[in-house]
Amino acid sequence: MESTRTALVTGATSGLGFEAAAQLAEAGYDRVVVTGRTQAKVDSAIARLETRTGAEVFEALTVDLDDLGSAEAAAGELVARGEGIDTLILNAGIAPPQDMRMTASGIEATVTSSLIGHHVLTSRLLEAGLVNEGGRLVIAGSEAARGDVPTFNPVDLEAMAADHFGGDLEAAIEAQMRMTPPATYKPGDTYATAKVFVAWWAAELARRLPAGTTVNTVSPGSTPDTNAISNAPFYMRKFMVPLFRLVPGMSHSVADGAGRYLEVAGYGPEVNGEFFASKRKKMTGPLYRMDHEHIADRSGQQALWNVVGRVSGGVSYEAA
Ligand SMILES: NC(=O)c1ccc[n+]([C@@H]2O[C@H](COP(=O)([O-])OP(=O)(O)OC[C@H]3O[C@@H](n4cnc5c(N)ncnc54)[C@H](OP(=O)(O)O)[C@@H]3O)[C@@H](O)[C@H]2O)c1
Repeated sequence: MESTRTALVTGATSGLGFEAAAQLAEAGYDRVVVTGRTQAKVDSAIARLETRTGAEVFEALTVDLDDLGSAEAAAGELVARGEGIDTLILNAGIAPPQDMRMTASGIEATVTSSLIGHHVLTSRLLEAGLVNEGGRLVIAGSEAARGDVPTFNPVDLEAMAADHFGGDLEAAIEAQMRMTPPATYKPGDTYATAKVFVAWWAAELARRLPAGTTVNTVSPGSTPDTNAISNAPFYMRKFMVPLFRLVPGMSHSVADGAGRYLEVAGYGPEVNGEFFASKRKKMTGPLYRMDHEHIADRSGQQALWNVVGRVSGGVSYEAA
């Protein structure tokens, strides 16, 4: 009997997630779970995906990743449905809002949408054995995490820890997530730091996964034709993005961006816990493995993992 190939894409109602869901169906997946925050948005996305691909493989799931109860419920619903997942594309996330947005759990919204909700969902699926042997997990990162994109500077958390918390890196990370002093909200820097957290999380989760299953961070690259930019600060909408569209090599299509997720999901088991993005100082083009010192920082990865476990109410996956 032939086995069913299943993928799940978070944030598949628009932009890169929608395109990734379409490409997965076009690549022959038999079941593609499409998630969004409301049933209406998911239903509309599925109708458009069916029209685009001619395939009837899409299945709806609602989840608001800002709400940890919703992430728990979505995982429970998948477990109840009972079919394993081969490819998990953790794409959902927001561009940095102009004004700081905190979620009910007291965490800044770029961190909850791109990381904390994904942590809860992924951990529960792994604990339930719902990620199939040899599963491929990909989470959306960003070139912003590297520190070589103007107006996106990851916060130096080691320095914050040394200057304000007696060297306690976990305290600095938690202050950044909760936006408590000395952390301050700067849209680009907060987003860049959230994407460093994503890369750290994937590196740490990679050490805990069952043999053969992998997780990698992938930046889709500079992709202006999604919905992300609609909530971004004025200077980004009016200056940066139009400039990116004009300068050759500064942006690429949604198909190219989403194709990066599928490319890395196709890598073998030896590629695990890595962060892939455009070549240093570039925003598009072929994927390269990033080896920046602050991304590879093992103490940051471990501290981040501990803080994510705490702020998500004690959810912390360990392979059985
Ligand atoms: N576009 C770029 O240039 C670029 C570059 C680097 C990285 N990225 C990353 O790529 C990912 C996708 O972005 P995009 O450009 O495709 O943006 P987009 O068109 O706005 O799509 C974002 C998706 O995420 C969902 N989402 C947002 N917050 C959520 C939450 N709290 N819970 C559940 N779903 C949520 C949205 O659902 P709703 O329909 O409910 O809003 C939507 O489906 C993000 O992680 C982003 O950081 C994008």
